[in-house]
Amino acid sequence: MSEDNLNIKQLLEFYVLSGVDETCGSEVCCLSEQKGAKTALPDSAQPVAGGRPAMSSLALSSAAAVKNADDLCREVQTIDELKQVVENFEGCPLKYNAKHTVIGDGNPAAKIMLVGEAPGAEEDLAGKAFVGRSGRLLDKMLAAIGLDRSLCYICNILPWRPPGNRSPSDAEIAVCLPFLKKQIEIVNPDYIFVLGAVAANSLLGNSDGISRLRGKWMTYETAAGRQIKVLAGYHPAYLLRTPAQKAKAWADFLRLKKAREENN
Ligand code: URA
Repeated sequence: MSEDNLNIKQLLEFYVLSGVDETCGSEVCCLSEQKGAKTALPDSAQPVAGGRPAMSSLALSSAAAVKNADDLCREVQTIDELKQVVENFEGCPLKYNAKHTVIGDGNPAAKIMLVGEAPGAEEDLAGKAFVGRSGRLLDKMLAAIGLDRSLCYICNILPWRPPGNRSPSDAEIAVCLPFLKKQIEIVNPDYIFVLGAVAANSLLGNSDGISRLRGKWMTYETAAGRQIKVLAGYHPAYLLRTPAQKAKAWADFLRLKKAREENN
């Protein structure tokens, strides 16, 4: 291999390690600079070498960002209004690497709400939750218990894709949680099905693994004091990697079906 080819290989390996998984031009550039003052990162979250915000400054800014997210949600009444608020929100650096802000899909008046982790590459491109491989599996599992997106509201803990689908940090989850809570308040579902440990832990405020949490009905209490039944299950992305767990996943979907039938 020539020296030039070796350098290109090393550079590509470096990009992959840094979470780069697609290209959108021939020149390396900083998207946040291109977007100009309106979307500039807050000082505390400016990228450092390597392109990610310094964790200490992000942590320092996150309490203020959470408060800001809470304040912005206060007057919001509809999912469309919330979408506007989230699209204009400046407090989460994930936004600056994402192509779209992905709020929920489906029926905002549904009795069932499904909550995943974060948009993946296909969701980021389409601006719609669960449209990639995981979403197609989710749609099939829903269809098997007589549900589709007209009967559910499907959203994520985070409205922006973490670069390279990395796991979201605690600070990123905390700052986006007010947007999820607002969606729960607006949709006001009877049942919430949380998909995977990140969604379950973030909503329920615990740190148990999904194998312990799945299959049991739990409770989420809204700010207004309404108790909503929550069921946890495996994330469809995990089921695609681990098909042997599909039997347990099926049992969880049947629990949801039974609860829904008993409520009708
Ligand atoms: N995985 C998720 O958790 N959410 C999506 O929208 C897509 C994949």
